[in-house]
Amino acid sequence: MRRTYIEGVIMGGALLVAAGCGGGESPIAPPPPVPAEYADKHMPDGWWTDPKVIEEGKAIFEGKKDVDVNCASCHGVDGKPKKRGARDFRVGDRMKLYSDSAWYWRVTEGVTKTKMKAWKTKLTDEEIWKVIAYEHTFSHGRTPAPHDDYTPPP
Ligand code: HEC
Repeated sequence: MRRTYIEGVIMGGALLVAAGCGGGESPIAPPPPVPAEYADKHMPDGWWTDPKVIEEGKAIFEGKKDVDVNCASCHGVDGKPKKRGARDFRVGDRMKLYSDSAWYWRVTEGVTKTKMKAWKTKLTDEEIWKVIAYEHTFSHGRTPAPHDDYTPPP
């Protein structure tokens, strides 16, 4: 799972040039503070672990529901990023820093100046929560789990 030291050095160097320090998977920085209008958005009760929700989230993630929405094309079918800089959802130490609101905000609005688009025009609210519930399984050995390891940034 971990990159070898030399790969890390090469990737890190490339990312510093390409992304001005903004990309890469280490060091792990928490997402920025959630804008006020997103602070009250929460995963519907029971959805983190609902098998039907997860299954539907998987279909969205893999572009099987809508070919124009293919998270896996960058984030990887197995959660291993295919595009440089795309978040690695397998890294629990990172994903535990995302509140459900932060996660929802980033998928909805995207991340400016990166390949991560705003998905709000392509996905409904419910679809966004479903794809998040699925993404969350990558940091829990591909099994549904409650997001009770969430650790607010200091
Ligand atoms: C064209 C490539 C691409 C596609 C398609 C894509 N992403 Fe991303 N995604 C990225 C990149 C690159 C980043 C890292 C952005 C950054 O530097 O903060 C990212 C970051 C994220 C993050 C973390 C944001 C943060 O604050 O760190 C989430 C969550 C995410 N993507 C979810 C999704 C979901 C859900 C989909 C499908 C609906 C999707 N992505 C589709 C490239 C992509």
